[in-house]
Amino acid sequence: MSNLVHITEDDMKEMDRISRLNLVNSITGFKPANLIATRSEHGVNNVAIFSSIVHLGSNPPLIGHVTRPVTVPRHTYSNIKANGEYTINHVPEGLEEAAHLTSANYPEDLSEFETCGLTPSFVKGFNAPIVKESPVSLLMEFHEEVPLSNGTVLIIGKVKSVIMKDDFRAENGSIDLLRAGTMAISGLDTYHPVSEGRNFPYATYESIEEKVEQEAKRPDQVVFDEKTKSYNASLLPYATNVGAPVIKPNDLTHWKASGAHKITRHLQAKYEELRTAYEEMTELFRWNELVYKAKFSFEPIAGETYHLYRKEDDSIFLSMIPPTNWSKECLGSFKLNSDQIWEKVLG
Ligand SMILES: Cc1cc2nc3c(=O)[nH]c(=O)nc-3n(C[C@H](O)[C@H](O)[C@H](O)COP(=O)(O)O)c2cc1C
Repeated sequence: MSNLVHITEDDMKEMDRISRLNLVNSITGFKPANLIATRSEHGVNNVAIFSSIVHLGSNPPLIGHVTRPVTVPRHTYSNIKANGEYTINHVPEGLEEAAHLTSANYPEDLSEFETCGLTPSFVKGFNAPIVKESPVSLLMEFHEEVPLSNGTVLIIGKVKSVIMKDDFRAENGSIDLLRAGTMAISGLDTYHPVSEGRNFPYATYESIEEKVEQEAKRPDQVVFDEKTKSYNASLLPYATNVGAPVIKPNDLTHWKASGAHKITRHLQAKYEELRTAYEEMTELFRWNELVYKAKFSFEPIAGETYHLYRKEDDSIFLSMIPPTNWSKECLGSFKLNSDQIWEKVLG
């Protein structure tokens, strides 16, 4: 077993510059991967990778990013100040190598777009490019700058528009980042694809109390699915957090990057379809297994609905009596179809 380390402020002071930089750049956890694109007074398009991007409020929609000390030329910073408009573009899987290359210092009159294999694209009436390969782009208007005591500057901008495909919009209004393929960054040099997460309802003290009570009552043979708020017949036997495969070209011509990006998207959509179908089939199988293993002493008739109950001794039995006429613990209701498959009756 590994020992616990305690790295103090003094230890950090004594570290060599690179170790300290690497440590501090990774201690906050994963950060978003975004390209900020700007246009200079002389019409040169600029793009650079930024990880210190954070939302500051949703009404008005304000986003901040931290710029390193402006004691040396910072093209993103000076273009934002001169132009007033800029864009923030998500880095999708397949584009991370090109995105990383934008962090090098390029001469002011050279566009990182071309050098790094990225494509500038323009929205009518907006004077900064978006990154064409990016799945989600924000059109930003400079709002204010806040100099910080360590020499860095917090730049705050207002979101004027969000540009993305319609199918990246989740039902609750948020962006489906997994579907968009948006990556995360750790430290200063590592780009991570993201796998499916878990989501929870808005937490209140009352809801926590209710959950504790419900958990105490749940049967063992079935699993409660937080997503659908219903019982699953059993734990699914496969790793549902495995992501779809990603194609990463080893050189950065635009053609390859955009082709790999497209096929990755296509495969991800197909993968999600197959996974949903597999989950549905597995659930059907598990319920049927449970119903067929339950005790019943009558011959069920196709087209009729029956109800699955759990007894005090944990045994499971099938009955024709509906749960409304009985106070027993009902695990679900099922209709037998003509293929002798039990279909779960919703509600
Ligand atoms: C992963 C990664 C994240 C970065 N995040 C930031 C950041 O949040 N703020 C910043 O000022 N520079 C950041 N940089 C450095 C800039 O990308 C770099 O200074 C770039 O040259 C700036 O380009 P510009 O001069 O065109 O603005 C980051 C670099 C990398 C590799």
